[in-house]
Amino acid sequence: MSHIRIINGPNLNLLGKREPEHYGQRSLADIMQQLQDFAGDCGHRVSHLQSNAEHELVQAVHQAAEDKVDYLIVNPAAFTHTSIALRDALLAVGIPFVEVHLSNIAGREDFRHHSYFSDIAMAVISGFAGDSYLLALQGLVNRMEIEESSP
Ligand code: DQA
Repeated sequence: MSHIRIINGPNLNLLGKREPEHYGQRSLADIMQQLQDFAGDCGHRVSHLQSNAEHELVQAVHQAAEDKVDYLIVNPAAFTHTSIALRDALLAVGIPFVEVHLSNIAGREDFRHHSYFSDIAMAVISGFAGDSYLLALQGLVNRMEIEESSP
């Protein structure tokens, strides 16, 4: 059984109410419940947290290492485009992670085109609204199954 933690950045607590044309209609709680159900069916464990504060997100990455989390799924939200501190935290702990975005950041304003995370992520999923998280989790589960079955 692997432990996958989902870390969500600022304003994602407002999902469902916030700019639904970009971020969809579903609440964060609804999306996270779906992931926990899916992970449970596959024999894995999902935990999650959300913070609006950069230092709490850095601390959450450190804590993931303390908790021996196997993989992270990270939506840094606006910190995607600004946070060297969060990038450094992920490099420091070395936990493999998938970068996730609900919207297709490459198709939006120029300032959203650069990510401080994409080059150090295992994979990036962007543009499927709440399903971006499920696709990231599905990809991780498939990867683990391949690794387990390879000699
Ligand atoms: C986001 C995209 C970011 O540019 C934005 O600041 C967010 C959410 C997304 O999931 O599409 O807050 O990460």
